[in-house]
Amino acid sequence: MAIITELRVNGKKLALHADAEASLLSVLRDQLDLTGAKYGCGEGQCGACTVLVDGVATRSCIKPVGEVASKEITTIEGLEKNGKLHPLQEAFLEVGAMQCGYCTCGMILSGVALLEKNADPSVNDIVRSMDGNICRCGTYARIIAALLKAAKTMKEGK
Ligand code: FES
Ligand code: FES
Repeated sequence: MAIITELRVNGKKLALHADAEASLLSVLRDQLDLTGAKYGCGEGQCGACTVLVDGVATRSCIKPVGEVASKEITTIEGLEKNGKLHPLQEAFLEVGAMQCGYCTCGMILSGVALLEKNADPSVNDIVRSMDGNICRCGTYARIIAALLKAAKTMKEGK
């Protein structure tokens, strides 16, 4: 059985001891104490566990940690830079794009991946791209508003 002993997460090399087949989500939460990514469906269907792997939004519940051992992983805990939240985190707070918050970290990371690819997304682009992230509280309208706001902020270079 292959064992993974190191992972690059949020710009740091972190030591761990995990079976290569273990899910990235379980390693992040149970070994590295990074609990922002949430366990929802456990089947790649809800997006609550989304993190970035080399900048790509990835369902960590179905991603074996062995497949990402040489990659750069970003979780919600690593989005803030020099004490400043990412513009999309700020926008979520400003428009109140969450109720229970269970989906929020996954939504934000999927949104960050979208904004990296498309700096000026339309509402349709957002809906299409975020379709796999489910919010049981139904805050979709505010999530879209937050994405539009963050895109504007980022374009203005704030
Ligand atoms: S918990 Fe991973 S997609 Fe639902
Ligand atoms: S805010 Fe509750 S699931 Fe989205």
